[in-house]
Amino acid sequence: MALVNECFLSLPGNYLFSEINKKVNTFSLQHPDAKLIRMGIGDVTKPLAKAVIDAMHQAVVEMSDAKTFRGYGPEQGYRFLIEKIIEIDFRSRGVTVQPEEVFISDGCKSDMGNIGGLFAKENVVAVTDPVYPVYVDSNVMDGRGGGTSASGMWKNIVYLPCIKENDFIPALPEKPVDIIYLCFPNNPTGTTLTKPELKKWVDYALETGALILFDAAYEAFIAEEDVPHSIFEIEGAENCAIEFRSFSKTAGFTGIRCGYTVVPKKVAARTGTGKKIFLNALWNRRQTTKFNGVSYITQRAAEAVYSDEGMRQCKENIAYYMKNAAIVRDGLKHMGLEAFGGINAPYIWFKTPENIDSWTFFDRMLKEIHVIGTPGVGFGPSGEGCLRLTAFGSREDTVAAMERFQSWSI
Ligand code: MLT
Repeated sequence: MALVNECFLSLPGNYLFSEINKKVNTFSLQHPDAKLIRMGIGDVTKPLAKAVIDAMHQAVVEMSDAKTFRGYGPEQGYRFLIEKIIEIDFRSRGVTVQPEEVFISDGCKSDMGNIGGLFAKENVVAVTDPVYPVYVDSNVMDGRGGGTSASGMWKNIVYLPCIKENDFIPALPEKPVDIIYLCFPNNPTGTTLTKPELKKWVDYALETGALILFDAAYEAFIAEEDVPHSIFEIEGAENCAIEFRSFSKTAGFTGIRCGYTVVPKKVAARTGTGKKIFLNALWNRRQTTKFNGVSYITQRAAEAVYSDEGMRQCKENIAYYMKNAAIVRDGLKHMGLEAFGGINAPYIWFKTPENIDSWTFFDRMLKEIHVIGTPGVGFGPSGEGCLRLTAFGSREDTVAAMERFQSWSI
């Protein structure tokens, strides 16, 4: 009989958002008349931009004619999309990226989960806490968890609190680490780092040889000037960082699936005997073996995000969501709750009143006002006593949710 990877068995039974879905579905079955407002998972609600839809239609037409039909594309992605990414996401910010450094994928989540396959299980991984659960769970699957302690924390993972008490600015690790996951604008807290703060991390990585895996999935929501959109805006980052981007929230692609990863040619790790191995070649080997690329139609859709019309329409949607974010943030503050984020990110992070634990408060919100959030502790131990709300709902639902909060005697 085949042997399983027992690392999977040490994980909690369900992925965070599956656990929430399970609870919500049970509640819905028991209370079919309850009008639920979903502010849990960060899933967009506005339809795709017209420029994107038009590009997809055009691509479908091409696929219907033998002369323009496309079969397998390049595993790394089509040049037409890679060139646009380089020009608009990077060159316009003074960052040089080469086409061979960009890998188009079916989204940031897959790449963030799969990248661990390049690394030995002996690596010490550091995460900010609370954190997007994919980083921790996928490292546990790869054998880098080391079992949990009494507090529920993974023994071999270094947790870097990112909490109100430190202004959501994590401190550099106190012990040596090999791989550091950073996500800014941050999921789940909605907070950001300024350039000088991010530079501290790049300098640390250059000094110690650590690798930074930088998740920039929410960069399109940045409104403030001094917040970097890419880690490669920081000098030297091309020697120590890999960046992950997504069209999910930028352009409403959560259902379409497209993202990309930038693996600079200079970034390296080493073998047990100290030989330097460049990660770009390794990731290329991994992708060409295990991945057959993103569909032509999807990549044409992503290309249209960079057209003048596409950018204008996507920005309009982002502005709509960020107005929701302001409504949520102001509404919570008005109730006397401590709320963070929602300025450069579509997430609002708030402290529960009287330190009610996250899951209790989640249950009460669901049962008493029929609003779904995400319990902070689901993102890590430092999230206990907090909840996350998303701004991705409709305006009507967002306003209605805040009205329900205001008239709720917690
Ligand atoms: C979230 O709610 O944290 C995100 O939607 C998850 C994701 O992007 O996979």
